[in-house]
Amino acid sequence: MLVRPKGTKDMLPEEAYRWQYIEKIARETAEAFAFREIRTPVFEYTELFSRGVGDTSDIVNKEMYTFLDKGNRSITLRPEGTAGVARAFLENGLAGGAMPFKAYYLISAFRYERPQAGRLREFHQFGAELYGADGAYADAEAISLADAFLKNLGLKQVKLRLNSIGCAHCRAKYHEALKNYFAPHLDEMCSDCKARFEKNPMRMLDCKEEGCKRFTAGAPKMLDYLCNDCKTHFGKVKELLGASGIAYEIDPSIVRGLDYYSRTVFEFVTSAAGAQGTVLGGGRYDTLLSEIGGKNVPAVGFAAGMERLLMVMDAENAPFDREKTTDCYLLGMDERSREKAFTLARELRRAGVSAETDLMTRSVKAQFKYADKAGARFVAVLGEAELTEGAAEVKDMKTSSSEKIKFGELAQYLLQRR
Ligand code: HAM
Repeated sequence: MLVRPKGTKDMLPEEAYRWQYIEKIARETAEAFAFREIRTPVFEYTELFSRGVGDTSDIVNKEMYTFLDKGNRSITLRPEGTAGVARAFLENGLAGGAMPFKAYYLISAFRYERPQAGRLREFHQFGAELYGADGAYADAEAISLADAFLKNLGLKQVKLRLNSIGCAHCRAKYHEALKNYFAPHLDEMCSDCKARFEKNPMRMLDCKEEGCKRFTAGAPKMLDYLCNDCKTHFGKVKELLGASGIAYEIDPSIVRGLDYYSRTVFEFVTSAAGAQGTVLGGGRYDTLLSEIGGKNVPAVGFAAGMERLLMVMDAENAPFDREKTTDCYLLGMDERSREKAFTLARELRRAGVSAETDLMTRSVKAQFKYADKAGARFVAVLGEAELTEGAAEVKDMKTSSSEKIKFGELAQYLLQRR
């Protein structure tokens, strides 16, 4: 038997409806904040991610699905959504339109990671990006949208962790301090950290190796190195969140795994679903658009992992919409009734009723069994007598009561009761 590639997941119908529910809440929440949907390609030229996401990130260094296409161009399956949205914004001249530009997306993304619960090689994200506003209101708006989304899903145990990683100006001083701190321990740290030491020492704080973690705990904190502008900006973000009743915890260990961030960074975390505790992450990224060839456009955004959200919703017993099932199963007792059931089903569907009928020439008993399994709300029975009368015997599968309903009135009857 052929099997799916490692790190991928099949979304079977019984799970897909829960997925659709999360997507519905995502759309409704984003649209309430006046964000509009954007769709960009699943693959992009590799350079977009090496320049955008950054060549000191694990994503670019180790995790990208990159290949040469038949035209010898280096192509990468998107490892995240932000760089593609930024490219689309610049390429389509949206910088000349109304600002701020606010867009959301529901996408699949690909990272060659070691698969485990909540960590896949093909995964899905709900993300949102806001361009053109450099003030703290935009950071607070993005966080507020993320918070509203998680609350609208009914999640209660997810906590917001907040940090500021400053701007290029104050981070240079911080990198100096980190290098001074780590230099005496470097021999005992992993080879990745040795490379990070040279290229981007802040990334050392994110190392998952136990041997490195014992040094990172006592490292200098970025918050102590913020310049006045970054300090004021962060103060205003905190003030706006406080005024909106959005609880947060300052967490200096949040540096994020992508290179493009500056100033505010945040993660929504939970301990409800085991190891992969971060369900949503984001922050400000004021240099990405100029980095990929555009002009300076300040930006802030976030993305949430759909698979992790599903796990957390299960762990928290959060409510889902009821799964949609057939409104009416049309049961034909003989060939002529089966034909009538077939054409009647079309009429019902046109009226907005979901209807199905026998496609396997089953016995009456087997059809009832199928209708029950499929969760049909009603079963309309058609036999010789019903064809003569022009009315079906409609059984309410909840109460087991039944009534005769004229064919012409069936749609109305079902619409009122389903
Ligand atoms: P990220 O933190 O890399 O940020 O990913 C965001 C979320 O995607 C994570 O919190 C997690 O829930 C989910 N995720 C990431 N990798 C995996 C995986 N291998 N398997 C399952 N879920 C995963 C970004 O992607 C940024 N583009 C977010 C952003 C948007 N920043 C600004 N705008």
